[in-house]
Amino acid sequence: MKRVFLTGASRGIGAAIRNALQVAGYSIVSPSRSELDLSDRKSVESYLNHIQPQADILINNAGENIISSIEEIDLTVWDRLLQINLTSALQFTRYFAPQMKARGFGRIINISSAYSQKAREGRAMYSCAKAALDALTRTTAVEYSKWGVCVNSVCPGFVETELTKRNNGPEQIKILTGRIPMGRLASPEEIAELVLFLASEANTYLSGQSIQIDGAFSIS
Ligand SMILES: NC(=O)c1ccc[n+]([C@@H]2O[C@H](COP(=O)([O-])OP(=O)(O)OC[C@H]3O[C@@H](n4cnc5c(N)ncnc54)[C@H](OP(=O)(O)O)[C@@H]3O)[C@@H](O)[C@H]2O)c1
Repeated sequence: MKRVFLTGASRGIGAAIRNALQVAGYSIVSPSRSELDLSDRKSVESYLNHIQPQADILINNAGENIISSIEEIDLTVWDRLLQINLTSALQFTRYFAPQMKARGFGRIINISSAYSQKAREGRAMYSCAKAALDALTRTTAVEYSKWGVCVNSVCPGFVETELTKRNNGPEQIKILTGRIPMGRLASPEEIAELVLFLASEANTYLSGQSIQIDGAFSIS
């Protein structure tokens, strides 16, 4: 049975990923924020040192999006956002990837965003973190693909989760929906389906990519 380490499974996309993987028969470790605070570098280090988890599949899903104009960015918040969205992913990658290399099998999936490549007012911190996460995906793929480790980013557009509702009022969601060629937001389950494929043994050759899953938003 393949073992998965998944962050941010308490709700939203992470909860849908956990459900999909459970149904498919994976064994899943998904620590809650009280067990592992991703905004604290030391908390991640001490969790890994103490628990010493083993996994064949790593899914860096947890993320935060705090909105601020360039002029108003608070550098403490900037550091926190980079730690949650990017640095924690590096910490887990360099902990789990050597295990995967030794077994000759692994999957790493980073949940990025359409905003890794697109821009919107107030999204500088989030866009920078997710663009760097895509860059981390590419370098990790170059370093580990030869050991049977497929590494990819999944870049959702707009998904029906608390994060989307927190950062967009009903009127904004209506406007954004009008800009999505498919005419609706994604469900978390639709994102989980793609993650399920990327995590599986059916994915034998897809690595190093940032896959847009956005109802054709990013190309319109
Ligand atoms: N929703 C979208 O439209 C959308 C679009 C593109 C990309 N994404 C990305 O998809 C991922 C999941 O988003 P979502 O919409 O499902 O978000 P969400 O509903 O806000 O859930 C975020 C998850 O991350 C966890 N988390 C956040 N900060 C944490 C911390 N410091 N330590 C530990 N856990 C933490 C949360 O745990 P708690 O329950 O403890 O808060 C929760 O489980 C994120 O990386 C996000 O950037 C989302």
